[in-house]
This record gives sequence, structure tokens and C-alpha cells, in this order.
Amino acid sequence: MPTGVGKPFWLLAELTYRCPLQCSYCSNPLDLKNTGPELTTDEWIRVFEQGRKMGAAQLGFSGGEPLLRQDLEILIREARRMGYYTNLITSGLGMDGRRVADFHAAGLDHIQVSFQASSEELNNRLAGSHKAFAQKLAMAKEVKAQGYPMVLNFVIHRDNIGEIDKIIELSIELQADFVELAIAQYYGWAFINREHLLPTREQLQKAEAITNEYRARLNGNGPKLIFVTPDYYEERPKACMNGWGNIFLTVAPDGTALPCHSARELPIDFPNVRDHSLEDIWYRSTGFNHFRGYEWMKEPCRSCDEKQKDFGGCRCQAFKLTGDANNADPVCGKSEHHHKIVQARTEADQLAVGGDAATPLLARNVHNQEAALAI
Ligand code: FES
Repeated sequence: MPTGVGKPFWLLAELTYRCPLQCSYCSNPLDLKNTGPELTTDEWIRVFEQGRKMGAAQLGFSGGEPLLRQDLEILIREARRMGYYTNLITSGLGMDGRRVADFHAAGLDHIQVSFQASSEELNNRLAGSHKAFAQKLAMAKEVKAQGYPMVLNFVIHRDNIGEIDKIIELSIELQADFVELAIAQYYGWAFINREHLLPTREQLQKAEAITNEYRARLNGNGPKLIFVTPDYYEERPKACMNGWGNIFLTVAPDGTALPCHSARELPIDFPNVRDHSLEDIWYRSTGFNHFRGYEWMKEPCRSCDEKQKDFGGCRCQAFKLTGDANNADPVCGKSEHHHKIVQARTEADQLAVGGDAATPLLARNVHNQEAALAI
């Protein structure tokens, strides 16, 4: 085992890219049609076993919509038998009380239900489903009733940031224990729709102030509000994934192993769990070793005294915005490409006062794939 490489503590199983919803901020890849067949139940179980032997402790089930996998209960049971802490990240569509009970019986530790908005009209418009909101409400209540801590996730963007007070009110009404108010990050479909999603600084500051008012008013008697700010309004980049190939390992539906959910869009070959053991992939593959350490860095990262803190930021963001994943993340004020972030903020200001977006808003679905790839 190479020295200096940590364990893949956090394993994310993206069970499927299939999803009944069409969120324009989805972080799945644009190329939804051309991925290989999904891993079978036995293949997933083998991956979990290999990960556990390597020291993985947390296992997330996500997608797409993981509920579309009819073997989800089996996968949960097997993962718990191996000793994982298990987490289901779901829209709630495809769930019912019986299934929540089955998850409970299988040993699932944690369920996070996502909402698009606090009102039925906006939620369903953003989700592209007329029944989504009612189903989410029912499932949030069911999850709570069956003894799980209630964890709600709202992706926040220009269309719903103005109703953050109502989002918090809904979370209180549902007796949520934790609420993630996560400003959209611009990967996958969110990146091509960024013009439509990025809030202005003013909107962001107002939303954070409202969140803080609620925190003060609730004073610990209500949901814990987690406000996640977007790096587009920062001057230093985030330590994405806590460092490339450091603690995080994603397995995509077709078995491609990735250091983060967006990395398959990089011009790097990533190995597949069908062809290699997880141990080979983690410790010895070119893809996982690509951005480990500091040797790969160009200036200004190479000589930066913050490189051990932020690892040069996000490789996927550097690639998307500069065409070269070796560059500093343009979020950084020291990057020669930082003007692209500043420009996105300026565009957000212009669009907020009635400007026209240069690109159409594209719902995440296979029909829009060609148009999305052309942007
Ligand atoms: Fe891939 Fe940040 S999302 S490195």
C-alpha cells in the first residue's frame, strides 16, 4: 500500500442515473444516454465488501433516484451486515410507508429527502413532476414517523432563494431535525444552466441574514439550519472532496470509479470496478493518483502557502472554466482566470434586473442531452 495515501473513508454508490425528476441543477453528467449498463446486485455487494476491507465506514446510496433500484433493500441489508453507516439520499418519489419500514428493517441509518421549494407550484415546476410535492410531503412525514431523524435538503438558486423564509417555515412544520440550505454548485446540468441559477450577492446575503434570524429565534428549539454558501462568491477555493483521492470514492452506476461525482467529465481515464479491485483503483490507478500531492500543480498553486489547506481547489471547476484541470480553481482570487467568476456574478446582477440569458434553461432529461452537450 503506497505511503501517504489515506483510506477511502466515504464511499458513495450512485446506483442509477435514472430519475423521475428533471431538476435543472442536477449534478449528474450531461451524457445520460451513453453510460454502460448498471452494476448488478452482486457487483455492488462485491464493491461494498472490498471498500469495507479497505477501511470505508460510510456508505451513501444516491443517484439519479436510488429508489428506482428494486434491490435497494438488499444492498442496504448487506452494507449494514458489513458494518457500514448507511445513508439514503432521495427525492422520495418511489417510496411509501412500507418501503420506509423495509429500509428500517434492513438497518438503514439515515434518510435525506430533497425538496425543490416550499410551494407546490414552484416545487413541481422545478422538479418537472405534478405529483412531486405532495409525495415529498407524505414521505417526509413517514420518515419522521418511523423514527428517523428528519433531514431535508433544499438546493437554493435564483428561483427559490426569495422564499427561504417559507422553506424554513415548512421545515419547522415538518419537524425536521436538520435542514440543508445548499446554494447550487455548478457541475453537470447546473453548470450549463448557471445563468438561470446563480443568485446575486445581494440575494445571497439576504437569504443568509434570514437564516440567521431564524437560528436566533429558534434558539436550538427546531431544525438545525445548515446554510451552504456557493464558492462563486468566495475569493479562495474550497478544499474540494477534502483533497483528490483522499477520503472520498464514488462508484457511478456503470461501475466507473471516480474521486468525485463530476470527474468523469475530465479528460482522464478512470477505472471500472468490473475490471479492477477497489484497492488497485484507489492506490494504484492513474486516475486516482492524478492530482494527489502537489507535484501536478502549476503556478500560482505550486508556490502558494495555502495549497495544503485547499489543494488548489476543485479540479472539475478548473477544467470547466479554463479547459485545463491542472490550473488553479478560478474561484481563487490569485487565478489568472478569476475574471470568469467575476463575470458570472456580473451576469447574475444583470439577469436579476431583467436581462436576457444567452442560453435556454434545460431540464435534466435525455431529450435535452444533445442541446446540453452543445452549450
Ligand atoms: Fe471534482 Fe471538485 S467536483 S474535484
